Amino acid sequence: MGERSHQLYEKAVALMPGGVNSPVRAFGAVGGEPFFTARSAGPYLYTEDGERLVDYVSSWGPLILGHAHPAVVAAIAQAAADGTSFGTPSRLEVELAARIHAAMPAVERIRMVSSGTEATMSAIRLARAATGRSLIVKFIGCYHGHVDALMVSAGSGMATLGIPSSPGVTAAAVSDTVAVPYNDLAAVAELFDQRGAEVAAVIVEPVAGNMGVVPPVDGFLDGLRQITAAHGALLIFDEVITGFRVAYGGAQSLCGVRPDLTCLGKVIGGGLPVGAYGGRRDLMAMVAPEGKVYQAGTLSGNPLAMAAGAATLDQLALPDAYQRLEEMAIMLADGLAEAAKASGVPLTVNRAWTIFTTFFSRTPVRDFSQAQACSLETYARYFHGMLDQGVFVAPSQFEAMFVSLAHDPALISRTVAASRQVFARLAETQS
Ligand SMILES: Cc1ncc(COP(=O)(O)O)c(C=O)c1O
Repeated sequence: MGERSHQLYEKAVALMPGGVNSPVRAFGAVGGEPFFTARSAGPYLYTEDGERLVDYVSSWGPLILGHAHPAVVAAIAQAAADGTSFGTPSRLEVELAARIHAAMPAVERIRMVSSGTEATMSAIRLARAATGRSLIVKFIGCYHGHVDALMVSAGSGMATLGIPSSPGVTAAAVSDTVAVPYNDLAAVAELFDQRGAEVAAVIVEPVAGNMGVVPPVDGFLDGLRQITAAHGALLIFDEVITGFRVAYGGAQSLCGVRPDLTCLGKVIGGGLPVGAYGGRRDLMAMVAPEGKVYQAGTLSGNPLAMAAGAATLDQLALPDAYQRLEEMAIMLADGLAEAAKASGVPLTVNRAWTIFTTFFSRTPVRDFSQAQACSLETYARYFHGMLDQGVFVAPSQFEAMFVSLAHDPALISRTVAASRQVFARLAETQS
């Protein structure tokens, strides 16, 4: 941490809670003060202290093309020159909606919002309205944004901070939410046996990303589809991380399960604030102004954000984009696993297509309790060791590693080489 970042941090802390505008940025889980970024380009962040860092956080997922991709910057510049917000419909909204619909047939119709949180909040409102039921089933360790009703056993920053819920979320707000262990279909079946007629929806990250990456076990998503359909409940896929990230058509295109509603965010905004929810035609017809389910937004469908999203999806639609992303994810995940093994540091790597997490654990991680059993202290030392080597990985064990199309195999090799030194040091102090 350099002097300039330190000065900014001191000023920031005086002005903002924790000096940040989103909790995980504060390095609370790994200790120390956050660096401040002055600018970014390609796979790199440039700090206020003049350091260049290889970035595997990618703004927590959106920057799948890397930072300041020329096509995205040009699209934003063009859109800005044409006006930053209209408060009327615009062509750009139709163009992004059409791309998403083409990629995800289950998203028959869509509503743009400004964050993933807004998307999940709106999707559960719609699910409750459509079914006339109240109960929402979520999974322990899955995070769906800071929606009151979903702040139960959440992952991400909530996991990092060890907050089971949050003060300010009333008992009433979560009284219609039930959380069950991820990948535990038997627990879901038992819950439906008892309360199936009350369940409006099951909301799930089809690949969990907020307890670290935890892929669904075989049959889990299929089973959710069958159980929800049998009980007249809706299935909501929260693809805020996985949409256009694990594949162009999201996790739903890979697992072959068609959800009733899908929540999106991150990649579809190309680094600008965007979320979206969409799905079955009959359900989306219930949303205002066609239907009575009210949901609105001053900046929803913002032209800059729509343009950035469309430019991003156009690059991702080019041949080989996901193959390249997955090859790099495999190279990095395998490289880190081998480096840890060679040093004798216990590491379990969970990878789902293009995303992965290195868990400091000897045993498999299939749910949140297993993720929590990892050595968070070792993760913190790994994080700081990598940062000293000029590599920025997530400042928490419970997050994903995101490669971008701006990374390349040479950079990945250098990252793996850096990790060898870090693991060797971890092993020395362990023994
Ligand atoms: C799966 C998932 N859903 C929802 C959200 C909330 O999105 P946002 O931070 O844009 O509100 C996140 C954020 O990380 C997420 O990972």
